Formats: sequence, C-alpha cells, structure tokens
Amino acid sequence: MKGPVVIHKGLDNVYVKESTICFIDGEASKLFYRGYSIEDLAAQSTFEETAFLLIRGHLPTKQELVDFNRRILLNRPLEPGLMQLIRSFPLTSDPMDVLRTAVSALALYDPAPITDKIDGRVDKAIRILSKAPTIIAAFDRLRNRKEPIPPRSDLSLAADFLQMLTGEAPDRYDAHVMDVAMILHAEHEMNASTFSCTVTASTQADMYSIITSGIGTLRGPLHGGANEAALRTVMEVGDPSNAEDYVTRALSEGRRIMGFGHRIYKTWDPRYVILKKLGAELASQKGETKLFETAVAIEQSALKHLAGSSVFPNVDSYSGIVFHTLGIPVDLFTPVFAMSRIAGWTAHSIEYLESNRLIRPKALYVGPPSLPYTPIGARAG
Ligand SMILES: CC(C)(COP(=O)(O)OP(=O)(O)OC[C@H]1O[C@@H](n2cnc3c(N)ncnc32)[C@H](O)[C@@H]1OP(=O)(O)O)[C@@H](O)C(=O)NCCC(=O)NCCS
Repeated sequence: MKGPVVIHKGLDNVYVKESTICFIDGEASKLFYRGYSIEDLAAQSTFEETAFLLIRGHLPTKQELVDFNRRILLNRPLEPGLMQLIRSFPLTSDPMDVLRTAVSALALYDPAPITDKIDGRVDKAIRILSKAPTIIAAFDRLRNRKEPIPPRSDLSLAADFLQMLTGEAPDRYDAHVMDVAMILHAEHEMNASTFSCTVTASTQADMYSIITSGIGTLRGPLHGGANEAALRTVMEVGDPSNAEDYVTRALSEGRRIMGFGHRIYKTWDPRYVILKKLGAELASQKGETKLFETAVAIEQSALKHLAGSSVFPNVDSYSGIVFHTLGIPVDLFTPVFAMSRIAGWTAHSIEYLESNRLIRPKALYVGPPSLPYTPIGARAG
C-alpha cells in the first residue's frame, strides 16, 4: 500500500542496519565500542587491540593480539611502486588527497584485491590500516624535502607514525597520548563517512574502494576538519585574556564556536573529557601551556554564553591542540583522523556484508512531466 512520501533529508534518525559495533548515548555522555566504554578502552587498551576488537568483534587473547600485531608490522612498509607514485605527487598536494589516492592505488599492488570471504576482507582491512600512517608520514617528509623514514618494528602503530613523521621515536608519554587519540577516533557509529563506506560495501566492491569512499567523505569541512578549525581559532585568539571578547563577538555575529556542538551529543562528548585531560598533562609536560589555557578560556566563556542550550564541547575542541603539541602539522589532522577511523570503517563494512542488501534509496521526482524532444536547430536562442 502506498502512503505519503516522507523525505528524510540528511537521513536524520534513519536506521540502515542493526550493529554490534558502537553505541552512543548522546544524552548521557556515553560511548561504547563493542560494549566496552571509551573510558576503559582509553585507560587500558591500545589502538591495535581496539582495532582488533572493532574488526573481529571481541577483545583478543594474548596469542590473537600477537598475531594481529605481527600482521600489522609486516604490512607497514610501502611497496616500492607505491612509494614511487607518492614521490611523483606535487609537493603542494593536500595530504588528504594524497591519502585518498594512495589508498586507492594500494589495490593495484594487491594481486587479489577482491574477496568475498570474511577472512579475506579482514586481511585487506589490516593491510590498509597498517599502511595509512606510513603513507601520510612519507608524504609529509617528501613535501619538506626530506627522505621518508621506514617503519620500525619495535614501535606501536601510533609511536611509529610519530617516528616516521619527525625522525625521532616519541617518548613513552607522547606515544601513549597518540595511541589514546587514535583509539578515540577509531569509531563513531553511522556518521557520514561510515555510511559512505557502507554504501560502497553494499555493492560488493573491494575494501580499497570502500575506504577510498570513506576518505573522500571525511574530506569535507562539515565532517573532518573541525579540529583544524578549532585549533586555528585558539591560535587566532592567542591569549586567555582575549577569549571573552572573541566568544561574545562570534556569537553576536551568528558564528559558531569550533569544537562545540554535535548532532548526537547533547551534553559532554565523552571523548572531549579524555582529550582535555591528556591535553592538560601534555601541555604542562612540554611547558607549552598558553594554547591550552586559551582553549580553556574560550570553553569557559562559550559555556557561560551557551548555558541552557544543548551545545557542549566536542572531541575537536582539544584534539587539535593535542596533535599540534605532538608535532603533527595542522593539515595532517584530518588524515590522522582517517588513519584511525579505518578501523571503524572496515569493521562496519565487514559487518554489513555479513547480511548484505544493496543500498538503493529513492529520490522524489519533482521535475516536469514528459516533454516533447526539440531538435537543436529548432530550440529558441
Ligand atoms: C556539529 C554541528 C554541525 C551539529 O549541528 P546540529 O546538531 O545540526 O545543530 P544545529 O546546527 O541544528 O544547531 C542547534 C543550535 O545550536 C547552535 N549551535 C550549534 N553549534 C554551535 C556552535 N558550535 N557554536 C554556537 N552555537 C552553536 C545553533 O546555532 C543552533 O541554534 P538555534 O537553534 O538558536 O538556531 C554544529 O554544532 C557545528 O557546526 N559545530 C561547530 C563545528 C564542529 O565543532 N564540528 C565538529 C563536530 S564533532
């Protein structure tokens, strides 16, 4: 029976599948991956273990983690042909474009990129997850006219990324902070890029096409990129004493405070709570507290002005400061988000394919009805 057509613009509140991967309670400030709270994962897990949890569905045994880590290690180096391709990119390229192109090209260096087996899909997921940090760090070195640094087998994925980027292995604390930041960015339910991956997966396309879609979707400023904007705001404000002026002016001009507000969280984003604490510790360890204090002053002022609304700080209010303090260039923030989110993207794609249905929504046609075709010579003008 045909009812009235309902258009779900933005697909707000539309469910596309059942999932056991991620649960968010946006009213209660809760986030769980596979039933484990983000607080427990940040405090006790590692990015590798969390990626295993997301992709495989359970916390690994010791042996499973050893095997998973070994597979990540083996996959970290780039094929010479891929490195050659990255060397050929213009040095001015946006790192997100580089990541998208290089992940797509990874398929060309895989002798069997297409598989319909779960284990095969997990193999591809591990391959992409392991190589993404190497790709991002290699391009950053090249654009700075430095040679890429090969991965090191004694470091975690997070520590190795910083090592390949800066040329120095990070100390334990920096490595820990990077690892936690990657855990916090690893998954977030059916957001735009995860949906994009799911749509591509539903056509039974290969994992490289799936992740390339996700990176393309994350690329837009309404999705990835808010952390960069939030950090730039803090840098522009420059000092805690300027915060109140900035917030008053921004709000009176109808501008949004970057790092605030969320479609799902109508209270504190639990990832914000963790990152703020890490940001404070990191700033005081490095003796670089000005940026952090400025961000806190902006936050306090914004909270005062937005009191009574459901706009609260989100993950991006401190992630930019944390990445910046770790020595990551601002235009790598979104690629770093992407390299962490590959865990969630691949997990959702594999889950969807276990009970696949091609995603094919509809558009309500509101154009003219059947028109007579006019040959070009008979058209007006
Ligand atoms: C993320 C975001 C797009 C979510 O938006 P949303 O849930 O669709 O909320 P809306 O855009 O409908 O906004 C609801 C109200 O809160 C206000 N609001 C939302 N975010 C705000 C912000 N960052 N600063 C000031 N006011 C904000 C809106 O102006 C609107 O007010 P109104 O009802 O008086 O018009 C939005 O909060 C935003 O643009 N934030 C800044 C960018 C950012 O930090 N993004 C990262 C998200 S992780």
